[in-house]
Amino acid sequence: MTSNSKAWIITGPTSGIGYRTALELAHHGTVVLVGRSPKKLDGVRNEIESTGGHAATVVADLGDITSVRRAADEITALHLPIAGLLNNAGIFPSRPRKSAQGWDIAFATNHLGPFALTEALIPNLPDGAHVVFIVSAVEDPDRRIAVQAGFRGSRYISAEASAAGEWLTPGGSAIPGMDAYATSKQGPLATALAFSREYPRLRFSAIEPGVNPGSNLGRDMNIVLRGLGMLMAPVLQLMPHYTTPKKAAKVIVRILTSQTPQTGTYFDEDGNPMRGSAQVHDPAFQDRVVAETRALLSTVPASNSAR
Ligand SMILES: NC(=O)c1ccc[n+]([C@@H]2O[C@H](COP(=O)([O-])OP(=O)(O)OC[C@H]3O[C@@H](n4cnc5c(N)ncnc54)[C@H](OP(=O)(O)O)[C@@H]3O)[C@@H](O)[C@H]2O)c1
Repeated sequence: MTSNSKAWIITGPTSGIGYRTALELAHHGTVVLVGRSPKKLDGVRNEIESTGGHAATVVADLGDITSVRRAADEITALHLPIAGLLNNAGIFPSRPRKSAQGWDIAFATNHLGPFALTEALIPNLPDGAHVVFIVSAVEDPDRRIAVQAGFRGSRYISAEASAAGEWLTPGGSAIPGMDAYATSKQGPLATALAFSREYPRLRFSAIEPGVNPGSNLGRDMNIVLRGLGMLMAPVLQLMPHYTTPKKAAKVIVRILTSQTPQTGTYFDEDGNPMRGSAQVHDPAFQDRVVAETRALLSTVPASNSAR
């Protein structure tokens, strides 16, 4: 049943977990689809509308702060009864690249953009609204399955250093892109936990969505490895922490639409509370990430957000 009394914002609804979640969310109200490709966004909107749902599209490049601020203004101008924001969009680049602001593309897209979008929307979110960040357990240096894959946990020095593409050494990953990804995904987890203390009128959560070989996150990976991952997906599903975008979407929507007053919880792929790294659960660290991120974002002139 589609209800229009609520609206849900989702970033990255054009592929993988976000695509499945957008279709699922359409059963709970209007879906505001935020993505970088107008054509792909229209495709998802048409799909939702063809089954009687309601959707709006807003174009934004999450790696570009100017684009994110413009998108937040556009979302606000829709005057929809927003019940939740899902920060889902993310990338896992295997080579370093620069964002529009000249920052590391993984850190910009996975942390700075979602942070800027969330802070721009918070004043317009009603009491009790959900804000959910899709994060990754690879930020934890003690996460066995991640270590086996080559991750060494977050290598955070400061927000400024991450933006410059600098990670804590020695002891980092030997595999290109892993330190950048793990560090960039710790940012939103620290933010969710810090914001749950800073904005008690809202409900913040972070979700580790499980290992989803069926998504496009590994699009930068060697084509042979990727093909193998896709082929093996049905078998891998049986292993601990492995899942599918469809299953992940069900868990995410359950948390995003939950009626419980719970805030500041980090959920696993089954929707059960989980622990992240010792570092990310330290409130002083969380507050440092938030303060450093705000300081960095304040260097992007507000006037730049004009069209
Ligand atoms: N897959 C996993 O195993 C796994 C595990 C843990 C966490 N996660 C997290 O889950 C989330 C979803 O990933 P996924 O696996 O579903 O990957 P995916 O299939 O590659 O989907 C990523 C989505 O993010 C969008 N996106 C990427 N860069 C963007 C940008 N600059 N601006 C706006 N949108 C952008 C993509 O848009 P386009 O369609 O235009 O490319 C796409 O809609 C990510 O945050 C990821 O870090 C995934």
